[in-house]
Amino acid sequence: MVSKLKISQAGTADISTISKIQKKAWLATYPNLGTGVTRADILKKDFTGLEPTRYQNMADDNWRYFLAQKDNQTIGYAAAKKEADQGIIKLVHVLPQFQNQGVGSVLLEQVLKWLVGKRIVLQVVRANFGTIAFYQKFGFSPIGPGRPIKVAGKEIATLKMVIPNT
Ligand SMILES: CC(C)(COP(=O)(O)OP(=O)(O)OC[C@H]1O[C@@H](n2cnc3c(N)ncnc32)[C@H](O)[C@@H]1OP(=O)(O)O)[C@@H](O)C(=O)NCCC(=O)NCCS
Repeated sequence: MVSKLKISQAGTADISTISKIQKKAWLATYPNLGTGVTRADILKKDFTGLEPTRYQNMADDNWRYFLAQKDNQTIGYAAAKKEADQGIIKLVHVLPQFQNQGVGSVLLEQVLKWLVGKRIVLQVVRANFGTIAFYQKFGFSPIGPGRPIKVAGKEIATLKMVIPNT
C-alpha cells in the first residue's frame, strides 16, 4: 500500500504530467499483451497530441480528472465523463513502479463516488487481463466487444464492461 496518498482534482497545469504517465503506463503494459503492439510503436506515438483534447475536456463540467500524488509527485490519474444516462470511465493509469500497491483502487473509488447513481461503463483492451481483473473487483462485468482502438495503425480489440446501477 502506498502511504500518504493524496487525491485531488487535476487542472490544466497537470496535463503534460498526465501525458507522461500515460506513456509510461502504456510502455510497461501494451508490448506485453500479445496484441502486436511493440515498444517502438508506443515510442512513436505522440502523446502530447492528445493534450488539446484534454484542455477541452477539463473546461467541460461533465469531465473530471483526478490525480494521485505522493510526496508532491503525481504517480497516477483517472479521467471520467458524466453523460445524461451513464458515467464513462475514460482512463486510469498508474506509474509502473507504483502499480499493484492500491493506487489505482483509490483513484477508481474516487471516480465511482463522483459517478454514483449512474450506470457506469468503460472499455479495456481485451488482452489486458490484469486490468480486467482489477475492474471486476469493483463490480464491472463484461457485456461484449467495445470499439477497437488503434495504436500505430494496428487495431486492438477491446471489451466493454459495465456496472448497471450504482
Ligand atoms: C490498471 C491499473 C490502473 C491498476 O492500478 P494499480 O494501482 O496497479 O491497482 P491496485 O494496486 O489498486 O490493484 C487492485 C487490484 O486489481 C488487481 N490487479 C491490478 N493490476 C493487476 C494485474 N496486472 N494483474 C492481475 N491483477 C491486477 C489486483 O487483483 C489487485 O487486487 P489486490 O489488491 O487484491 O491484489 C494500473 O495497473 C495501470 O496503470 N496499468 C497500466 C495501464 C492500464 O492498463 N490502464 C487501464 C486501461 S486504460
